[in-house]
Amino acid sequence: MTAFPSFVDRRVTISVGDITREAVDAVVNAANGSLLGGGGVDGAIHRAGGPEILEACKAIRATAYPDGLPTGEAVVTAAGRMPARFVIHTVGPVYGGGMRGEAAQLGNCYRNSLEIAARRELNSVAFPAISTGVYGYPTDEAAAVSSQAIEEALGANPSIGQVRLVFFQASDAETFLRHQRFTR
Ligand code: APR
Repeated sequence: MTAFPSFVDRRVTISVGDITREAVDAVVNAANGSLLGGGGVDGAIHRAGGPEILEACKAIRATAYPDGLPTGEAVVTAAGRMPARFVIHTVGPVYGGGMRGEAAQLGNCYRNSLEIAARRELNSVAFPAISTGVYGYPTDEAAAVSSQAIEEALGANPSIGQVRLVFFQASDAETFLRHQRFTR
């Protein structure tokens, strides 16, 4: 197993694997606005967590977000059968070339997810590489955006002790490490 460096006073770690197996307080889901599931990590989380997650998402659609979850926003549900305690669902931007505010929207996914975690006094959060799959965000550009947003959010939320960046492919982890912009 490759030993990856850690960042932000060792509060950010990197790994390669299946995020549904992470025993953290919250796993972040790269959802779509419907919150009704999909492919990629969304599909994996719903499969691993079971129907309880979809039921909770439907309840959110019936109350707080009848028109769906806007890009960059985040909501929390139970995690069902997964070892994690909660799922934070966030909707990443669809990459359209990078000139339509995608970077700010992607940064909001990370910031809002960590803000919600801090509000619920959660200590450990695992993120997939939001938007870099179906939504087409280039992994190198996403690395610069996500690392800066995470470092900023960790500065603002000292109660969060651990952020795990879980990549499905080793090549994605390596690209991230080459393009991340952590300052410590
Ligand atoms: N664990 C960790 N990472 C994973 C897993 C997993 N089990 N499965 C996929 N990934 C990775 C992908 O390799 C990619 O790097 O998650 C990253 C995000 O890819 P997607 O899941 O395709 O998410 P995204 O690009 O944000 O697109 C969201 O896809 O699945 C649908 O419903 C979802 O419509 C939404 C869209």
